[in-house]
Amino acid sequence: MKKRILPLISAGFLLINSYAFAADVKPAPNGLQLPENYKDWKIISQSHRIDNKTMRIIIGNEKAIEASRNGKTNPWPKGAILGKLVWKQKAEENWPTAIAPDKFVHAEFMFKDSEKYTETGGWGYARWLGMDQKPYGKNKQFSQECFACHTPVKDRDYVFTTPVSLP
Ligand code: HEC
Repeated sequence: MKKRILPLISAGFLLINSYAFAADVKPAPNGLQLPENYKDWKIISQSHRIDNKTMRIIIGNEKAIEASRNGKTNPWPKGAILGKLVWKQKAEENWPTAIAPDKFVHAEFMFKDSEKYTETGGWGYARWLGMDQKPYGKNKQFSQECFACHTPVKDRDYVFTTPVSLP
């Protein structure tokens, strides 16, 4: 009896700790897969790069949103996934002093798991390019590039974004 229950329990744990992914999109070279429902995630913040004229929204899965709304972001909890969606900017058609998103550039993600991603500060990194969601990176070493640029904010658990203030 016990022998039968144990595998069921561990299968349940696997489901809880993993995430649903888009099976029709190729995984990143480090094996990470595109989270399936990221387009429905809630917003943590937004940013605008004035040097290369791109607009971004920073989004999170449920775990990340819960942490960000409760100020529990240093460290972020295991299982949190942060996403960043990037667009080129253009002038708002009917109000040219405003800027609005234009062409979609890429979607990128940070997956928190301190035991799993020890080589990159406890976060797994992945990026998918353009509308056809092509995985970024020649081999799995690509995430060292992400990690290196996020290292200046090591003391903030490698995350640049501060969640927006909300009433
Ligand atoms: C040249 C530096 C640089 C590189 C390389 C870089 N990032 Fe970032 N990343 C940033 C900065 C700065 C921000 C915060 C502001 C912004 O860009 O909107 C950021 C934000 C993020 C965010 C939102 C959470 C946060 O830290 O604010 C994710 C997710 C992310 N990057 C993933 C990646 C992935 C995946 C890669 C590699 C494929 C990568 N980054 C490579 C500089 C970098």
